[in-house]
Amino acid sequence: MALMSNKTKLVRTILGEVQERPPIWIMRQAGRYLPEYRALRKDVSSFLEFCYTPEISTEATLQPLARFDLDAAILFSDILVVPDALGQKVWFEKGHGPRLTPLEGMSDIERLDVDGVLEHLSPVLETVRRVRAKLADEKALIGFCGSPWTVATYMLAGQGSPDQAVARKFALAQPDVFAKLMDKLVAASIDYLVAQFEAGVDVVQLFESWAANMDEVFFDAWVIAPNRAIVAGVRARISDAPIIGFPRGAAGLVAKFVRETEVNAVGLDYGMPLEFARQHIAPLACVQGNLDPLRLVIGGDQMTRRVDEILSAFAGTPHVFNLGHGIVPETPIAHVEALVAQVKGL
Ligand code: CP3
Repeated sequence: MALMSNKTKLVRTILGEVQERPPIWIMRQAGRYLPEYRALRKDVSSFLEFCYTPEISTEATLQPLARFDLDAAILFSDILVVPDALGQKVWFEKGHGPRLTPLEGMSDIERLDVDGVLEHLSPVLETVRRVRAKLADEKALIGFCGSPWTVATYMLAGQGSPDQAVARKFALAQPDVFAKLMDKLVAASIDYLVAQFEAGVDVVQLFESWAANMDEVFFDAWVIAPNRAIVAGVRARISDAPIIGFPRGAAGLVAKFVRETEVNAVGLDYGMPLEFARQHIAPLACVQGNLDPLRLVIGGDQMTRRVDEILSAFAGTPHVFNLGHGIVPETPIAHVEALVAQVKGL
């Protein structure tokens, strides 16, 4: 299958068109900084149930677009629905973030069931269909999954961690067993992303949120190779699938990531210097980013100045405005309004 020519400004930019003003969306744009999200969330005790209830997740997906003039909606779900769909126990504890029963070795990995993933995630695919039906034609719908390394760090540690040491030691000590886990995550991610395109997303983002903290050999094996396999696997079934990679923290390895994975666009975290990105990354692919989310929390002149610097650094090149990581819950709504107005030139 091929997608029909896509008319959204976001997708045209990701595929290489230069805009007068960049399109804008915000990572984690549906979430706790919005009072209407908190109101919707309070009636559902479990976060996964929230993700798997199409009425509710459709509304959460559309909430930020009702308030702000954003160019895209991002499907409301989570990267950890994939381990849940594979049969691992996943839950979210208030104040603690995600928890999983950690995988301990080969027998736990062998039990993960790739064939059951799409059936388990059918409510999320239903959300995609509902959102696409309600979204204006010029607004893009972004689908996503976590990249295999990032998802594996949670599956092995049973929770988030600052240095991903549990997964790094596992991959170094038992590379063959680890490869089996990564192969399953690659296969499940390809099926899931293709199903998202078939249900109506216009573009997908691969969230490699934990691409820092590793040497280049490790990065080649467990970041570049699996992301490349997903891009190739999705494009084998949807030849013109637009794909954004986000290797957060990859610093000097971002250019290599872009060349070797063949993503159309790359998310830049806020540690990425603009001049370096302009010279070494923007010539390779559309760039997306990279405002520090805390500049949006504080707002005012320091934010306006930095937004202008980002806009000028990427003027004349395909650029999608975004933050360098997810928006945080304490962000004032008025600052988001000011940001969108500035990027749109209003
Ligand atoms: O961007 C969006 O608006 C779409 C929805 C979305 C969520 N999570 C909703 C969510 C997306 C794209 C994600 C991705 C995600 N989830 C990532 C990659 C991006 C990144 O931030 O690095 C990661 C690592 C996760 C795993 C995860 N989910 C964590 C660590 C947490 C707890 C910390 C936190 O931010 O709350 C979650 C929970 C989560 N995912 C919430 C939301 C709105 C908050 C839960 C709640 O409302 O109770």
